[in-house]
Amino acid sequence: MRHASELTKPILIIQITDFHLFADPMQTMMGISTEKSFLAVLEHAWRNQDGVALFLLTGDLAQEPSVTTYQRLGNHLNALSVPCYCLPGNHDDPELIRQSLAKGNIHYDSQVLLDGWQIICLDSTVPLDPSGYLAPGQMDLLEAKLAEQPKRHALICLHHSPLPTGARWLDTMKLFNDESFFKLAGRYPQARGVVYGHIHQAMDVTHNGLRLLGCPSTCFQFKPDTDDFALDRVPQGYRCIELHPDGKISTKVVRMDSVPHGLEMDSNGYKDHGA
Ligand SMILES: [Fe+2]
Repeated sequence: MRHASELTKPILIIQITDFHLFADPMQTMMGISTEKSFLAVLEHAWRNQDGVALFLLTGDLAQEPSVTTYQRLGNHLNALSVPCYCLPGNHDDPELIRQSLAKGNIHYDSQVLLDGWQIICLDSTVPLDPSGYLAPGQMDLLEAKLAEQPKRHALICLHHSPLPTGARWLDTMKLFNDESFFKLAGRYPQARGVVYGHIHQAMDVTHNGLRLLGCPSTCFQFKPDTDDFALDRVPQGYRCIELHPDGKISTKVVRMDSVPHGLEMDSNGYKDHGA
């Protein structure tokens, strides 16, 4: 029998996202080593967040999807004794993730069942398009998982933001069928929150009764509220999410002490879109 105090203890998950790793770990993007900045975040989260139940990886794991990239990422993650659940971003290759990354502690599954909660992982990617869309199969999957677990609170995870951020260039790449998504989720009161990557910045708003949480990237960040692409010289980080037995979500963003090496320089010259 479970002790009463355990029933009131929240489940801690850590979201890390948008690593943009290359086959060559020395390669840089926007002037920084995405490999080094990812490893700094992973190590910080692992050392400082006691009692973490799982890591949640919300896409753009690779900038250059290849067997080499995903296998090396798998080696980093499998060195930790914690389950990792991943979903693809627009830069990823979902099939390669399945073949080369989803081994050992790393899982590519649509559903994670926890004590009192379920996590539903969706694929919002569209081949050769940076925008997001939940295809009919993914919408059906979401509905089926919500319907089969009416007594579990639900956290829905995908790569693309269902809401605009206020950055005009970035909002052209949000989730396209957001209205259908919110309509479906709204039919299931146990749906509590939506967690996503892609926007390379923190976001925490409530919409239609759902907590919507965006997360900083492990590498470079996008400047909020801009018409055109611009980098924000703030440190990379991750998000801690506590899932409470009563359905409440408490969360905080944790950032590194300084920006990744290479971002200290003036970033105005970088025009390459990296979402
Ligand atoms: Fe990204």
